Amino acid sequence: MRIGVIGTGRIGATAAGHFVDAGHEVRLANSRGPESLTDLVADFGPRASAGTPAETGRFGEVVLEAIPFSAYQDLPVEALAGTTVVSAANYWPDRDGDADVGERTHTELVADYLTGSRVVKSFNTMIWENLRDEARPEAPLDDRLALYVASDHPEATATVADLIAQVGFAPVEIGSLADGRQIQPGSPVFNEPLTPAEARATLDLDG
Ligand SMILES: NC(=O)c1ccc[n+]([C@@H]2O[C@H](COP(=O)([O-])OP(=O)(O)OC[C@H]3O[C@@H](n4cnc5c(N)ncnc54)[C@H](OP(=O)(O)O)[C@@H]3O)[C@@H](O)[C@H]2O)c1
Repeated sequence: MRIGVIGTGRIGATAAGHFVDAGHEVRLANSRGPESLTDLVADFGPRASAGTPAETGRFGEVVLEAIPFSAYQDLPVEALAGTTVVSAANYWPDRDGDADVGERTHTELVADYLTGSRVVKSFNTMIWENLRDEARPEAPLDDRLALYVASDHPEATATVADLIAQVGFAPVEIGSLADGRQIQPGSPVFNEPLTPAEARATLDLDG
């Protein structure tokens, strides 16, 4: 699959490495331009390339956005139309400033902005070091760490859940983007390394 990654910091670059390892074609974009990604592309090898955010948006069948929440309105709306967009962004008021989230979740605001994209909230709960070190593609799903998936688009949920399983984690489906409130900062599962059974029990998903 062709996967775009917009935001190549701690989360984006770490996830991109897993996508390359799983055999996917990956295009990377950041705020400074493709030239600044030469070393990272070389590290990842021939399945990796760099582009602008718009080029990366058009390239990806799935695009991971891993940029600060405060920058979401820089995402290339037209280039991402028709695409499954995984949003790993969390809203941290100290970093992102005041945002008028109201009753909506911050990922719903991203989805409102990305008209035409299928937005999936995922890859947001795990600190990047665990994402880097705890991938276990050879282990049974029950023994891996959970990564959560929330979306209003069942097909996109299934695509991202499959991708999570490919890169060595266990997908736990939460429900809609509004249900994604359960995996925001402050949630009992946020930044907790849990197996899928522990995660489901903590969130009472089977109750
Ligand atoms: N760090 C974690 O453990 C963790 C875990 C889960 C979720 N998250 C969330 O994931 C997001 C990224 O976090 P991070 O820790 O990976 O951040 P980071 O290391 O600071 O990297 C941020 C990346 O976003 C890029 N960027 C910033 N503004 C941009 C824009 N307007 N257009 C394109 N690219 C832009 C930066 O580009 P440059 O490289 O050119 O500066 C950089 O590559 C945040 O929303 C964070 O809350 C982080």
